[in-house]
Amino acid sequence: MLHERGVFTVPKERAERNRTIFLTETETNIYLSRCVCPAKADTLSDVTDAVIHGDAFAVIECLPANCVDLLIADPPYNLNKIFNNTAFKRMSDAEYATFTESWLLKIKRVLKDTASIYVCCDWRTSLIIGAVLQQHFTVQNRITWQREKGRGANHNWKNSMEDIWFATVSPKTFTFNVDAVKMRRKVIAPYKINGKPKDWQETEHGNFRDTFPSNFWDDMSVPYWSMPENTDHPTQKPEKLIAKLILASSNRGDMVLDPFVGSGTSAVVAKKLGRHYIGIECEEEYCALAQKRLETADTDIEIQGYSDDVFWERNTLALQQKFNSGQATQLSEVDINVSKHAH
Ligand SMILES: C[S@@+](CC[C@H](N)C(=O)[O-])C[C@H]1O[C@@H](n2cnc3c(N)ncnc32)[C@H](O)[C@@H]1O
Repeated sequence: MLHERGVFTVPKERAERNRTIFLTETETNIYLSRCVCPAKADTLSDVTDAVIHGDAFAVIECLPANCVDLLIADPPYNLNKIFNNTAFKRMSDAEYATFTESWLLKIKRVLKDTASIYVCCDWRTSLIIGAVLQQHFTVQNRITWQREKGRGANHNWKNSMEDIWFATVSPKTFTFNVDAVKMRRKVIAPYKINGKPKDWQETEHGNFRDTFPSNFWDDMSVPYWSMPENTDHPTQKPEKLIAKLILASSNRGDMVLDPFVGSGTSAVVAKKLGRHYIGIECEEEYCALAQKRLETADTDIEIQGYSDDVFWERNTLALQQKFNSGQATQLSEVDINVSKHAH
């Protein structure tokens, strides 16, 4: 039996432009029935491209060894936080280190030797997770995401950044598709040599340069009510953020695992980008929400801020739309890499 749900029933009043995805009680039951339960999850084909309803610690034991190319983990941070029906309680740093090590080591068995790992954290949790990762894997980098939103504090700095640790199983052999994650920026000072643009493109819509991606990300906010990807999950990640991780560190057809999949963001983005996925989530309602988003992705593969295989800097939506509507006639196919990421 499913319990009464407050967060997902249609609220009486939603602003007209509020695009938040919600579930009715009936929909929750339908979508949940299309998720996989741990008892059935005994072979990879059962769980490939599935949301699994269960405790990640138990479900991971059911997965075959060496099947995952990319792990994206967004665990509960070491804070008091309510995830629908379950309250996560802040622990001591030592306890949180033990918690982190216990799921990471279980997952190590299912990772391929060439696999990459990303783990999300706030600044406090980052101190612990970085150290645990370093003990068991090769830490390659730490991305800092300026997520903008955060609660103001009277006696401290507002918390408006998160870390994403990047580690690999092998120190040297792993996928990193740098060209897939370059950022398209407007050129402020167009420099020419012999009358020709140096490292930038001249178009009827403006001048652009595709720049190497850094480990500081300030080009995306947390999802909010007018975004079509938004849900009522309390800690949902933006699709654009996950798209960067997946495009850089996996190839089409690879397997992406998210053991704390929440509203389904990693699975949805993996699907939109032609990767396989396994998402694990212990809350029924979040599983149903993830399943609904996955089914919507059958027909809608748009990722906000990523179009025509390009990540755009912020506040360029109008320009992106011009490019998408085929008006970028001055650029050659090579220049703007026009092939759609759709399959
Ligand atoms: C930080 S949230 C992930 C949010 C997700 N990245 C998204 O975009 O929606 C962590 C999620 O892990 C789930 N969770 C916590 N402990 C779990 C466990 N042992 N097994 C499976 N899921 C768990 C919580 O219910 C929560 O939805």
